[in-house]
Amino acid sequence: MLVLGVESSCDETGIALYDTDKGLLAHALHSQVEMHAEYGGVVPELASRDHIRRILPLTEATLKDANKTLQDINAIAYTQGPGLSGALLVGTSFAEALAYSLQVPTISVHHLEGHLLAPLLEDNPPQFPFVALLVSGGHSQLMRVDGIGEYELLGDTLDDAAGEAFDKTAKLLGLGYPGGPALSKLAQTGKPNFKLPRPLLTSGDLNFSFSGLKTSVLTLVNQHQPLDEPTKADIAYEFQEAVTEVLTTKCMHALRDTGLDNLIVSGGVGANAKLREKLNVATKRRGCKVSYPRLEFCTDNGAMIAFAGAMRLIAMQNHEAGNYSFSVKPRWNLNELQAP
Ligand code: KG4
Ligand code: ZN
Repeated sequence: MLVLGVESSCDETGIALYDTDKGLLAHALHSQVEMHAEYGGVVPELASRDHIRRILPLTEATLKDANKTLQDINAIAYTQGPGLSGALLVGTSFAEALAYSLQVPTISVHHLEGHLLAPLLEDNPPQFPFVALLVSGGHSQLMRVDGIGEYELLGDTLDDAAGEAFDKTAKLLGLGYPGGPALSKLAQTGKPNFKLPRPLLTSGDLNFSFSGLKTSVLTLVNQHQPLDEPTKADIAYEFQEAVTEVLTTKCMHALRDTGLDNLIVSGGVGANAKLREKLNVATKRRGCKVSYPRLEFCTDNGAMIAFAGAMRLIAMQNHEAGNYSFSVKPRWNLNELQAP
């Protein structure tokens, strides 16, 4: 079966074709990062309008790339939430309308389930059950994953998400948007000249808290005015050390508490090289396996949505074409998902 995946929850339009026998055939992405950069963050109305502009050309390019036509599509998976409502509406209405015209079923996908399953797109995918660290712009969660739709929340952030903390700290250092990649690049030239707290490191649970770290960075920034480049790099270095140390330690605690020996990492912050380095060392020491999506599938993309949709489609066996009515779920808790 050939599944078209459509992602438009935030500032990336992603389209992909996943074949349930042959795997990922093609994918295309348009990032709106440059468009939003001058505003220092995502402008929802601009995001929706840009999705409208991109979605058809990207679909045509993906079909061409895979040497397929619209008639080859057997089902359409799309992100129904969570995300920006206007942006979600673009992908959702496009997917339902196209499915109606082709008379094929639709599968509405939870964006975080897409992220969560993205490492399974790679060769030698991890087997269920596993512990998942989901670290994106909006989420920092540890989960026990027993199968598709079988997610148990083990820990969550009490305030800012890891990606949000990267973005806000990058802003304090005068770096561009999105801050994560810029901050981690600057950190490469930094040295361990400062000491920042490791929030909740020894809290005994699997929760995170990153907003205090940002305040500590603000204090450092205020103390070292005017900020020169080496000082900025040293702050970036220490911030990245603090976040990645906490994330790594909590992942190891989650593996210990669940007794599992498989970890997967997904979401935008999963692209962070320092985090990967620390997790590789720590899992090796524990005798555990760690899996990541390829870098381009850490951040938002259509492939993870096509894949999550395909997994649900396979599990559901008889998936009948629906009535093609639609709604979006800008707020949607992963706990509400059920196994297909
Ligand atoms: O998963 P994602 O594309 O969007 C959400 O669903 O939230 O994640 C975006 C987040 C942003 O906060 C961005 O700054 C962060 O991931 N990010 C990084 C890196 N690449 C992206 N954070 C740290 N290091 C990176 N290399
Ligand atoms: Zn995302």
